[in-house]
Amino acid sequence: MSALAVKSLYKIFGSRGEEAVRRLANGAPRAEALVGLPATAAVIDADFEVKPGEIFVVMGLSGSGKSTLIRMLNGLLRPTKGSVRVDGVELTSLKPAALRKLRREKISMVFQHFALMPHRTVLENAGYALEVARLPKAERRERALDALRMVGLEDWADKLPHDLSGGMRQRVGLARALAAGTDILLMDEAFSALDPLIRREIQDQLLELQAELGKTIVFITHDLNEAMRLGDRIAVMRDGRIVQIGTAEEILTDPANGYVAQFVADVDRTRILTASSVMEKPHHVLDVNAGPRVAARALRETQTSVVYVTGPGKRFLGTVTEDEVLRALREGRQSLDGYVSTERVRTVSEDTAVADLFADCAESQHPMAVLDAKGRLAGVIPRITLLSALASATPDDVSMVDDTAPMDEPTRPDTELLGAKGEPA
Ligand SMILES: Nc1ncnc2c1ncn2[C@@H]1O[C@H](COP(=O)(O)OP(=O)(O)OP(=O)(O)O)[C@@H](O)[C@H]1O
Ligand SMILES: [Mg+2]
Repeated sequence: MSALAVKSLYKIFGSRGEEAVRRLANGAPRAEALVGLPATAAVIDADFEVKPGEIFVVMGLSGSGKSTLIRMLNGLLRPTKGSVRVDGVELTSLKPAALRKLRREKISMVFQHFALMPHRTVLENAGYALEVARLPKAERRERALDALRMVGLEDWADKLPHDLSGGMRQRVGLARALAAGTDILLMDEAFSALDPLIRREIQDQLLELQAELGKTIVFITHDLNEAMRLGDRIAVMRDGRIVQIGTAEEILTDPANGYVAQFVADVDRTRILTASSVMEKPHHVLDVNAGPRVAARALRETQTSVVYVTGPGKRFLGTVTEDEVLRALREGRQSLDGYVSTERVRTVSEDTAVADLFADCAESQHPMAVLDAKGRLAGVIPRITLLSALASATPDDVSMVDDTAPMDEPTRPDTELLGAKGEPA
């Protein structure tokens, strides 16, 4: 079951909400549909589910409806129409007391402006939700301390918020949500007020914590790089509507429309694209039991100077070059065993970010070997492929988006530049 499920969800501010929903239901843009109505459409026909343990990012420009959406997820705002289910429970059917209880037990929220109480200690702030829930003092203290430990602030428990830096204060905000022990965290621009370096640090910390705790997180941001770093999946919002939901890689390589393409045009795609998305099929793979004659033929046919060699279970063993093949021939060997070297070719895993490949690439004479989780050769990355991936990551890329095209026409800027599987164009 999904942790959160949203169906045909609308929020109209102002009056005549039902009329507004009717006018918007056929997909009309909100600017046109509501002319003459005293109403603002903040969220239009949202549909998505968030799986337990997932980080689901909602990204969009200011005014696109992100905060309104997240505030309907914990029942702080009542939808004009549609359904929100938390662990299968329909929020719109709950009485206020039941809603408060569900919120307390299942959902915590982390805000952009920390919302710490200045006259209470860090520990008291971290344990605030537990105080509201009337837990005994000793238990509150223990759970709040645990949460502070998770974010690395246990030594600051007795300080006041103003003793802390911005990054630390936001970690207290995070600790408060963790101490509450809810499975779902809603984070609205939680890191947006922080300096870039601090922000990266706290993003890393969130990812580390998440690997351990497996919370269900809805994370709102207007920062694309943050969205791509954190999100298992990303929903892109525009003018109240969700225009695409997908993984970072899906959104980069296959934007749903020109708007999304333009939105993602200046993201550092070398950080998002992985080795597996730029690798190519290796042309010259031999089993270690193949003899040097077969290897010599492979070298000749492919006009390369290196053959990739695999062993039992197709595990990657290394390479042999022309010299070694010649040596094996001269020494009258029947197999390549004993001639395979791991020195000339760098190996990387499929999920290595392209950005992290450049150093390896410079040191590798031959195409890098990309290995899957079982150590099998999944593909190779020639230097030229990497260079073209780099080229497509430069700001020039923006010009690849045809901005004369209507916003909703599908354009696929970077796949063309990169070639379908990373072949240089
Ligand atoms: N309480 C309200 N009353 C009337 N209109 C509202 C209200 N809250 C939000 N809106 C409008 O709804 C739209 C969506 O606002 P929302 O705050 O959800 O956007 P957002 O994506 O969170 O923007 P930001 O990035 O600036 O936080 C905007 O046009 C906004 O003016
Ligand atoms: Mg907002």
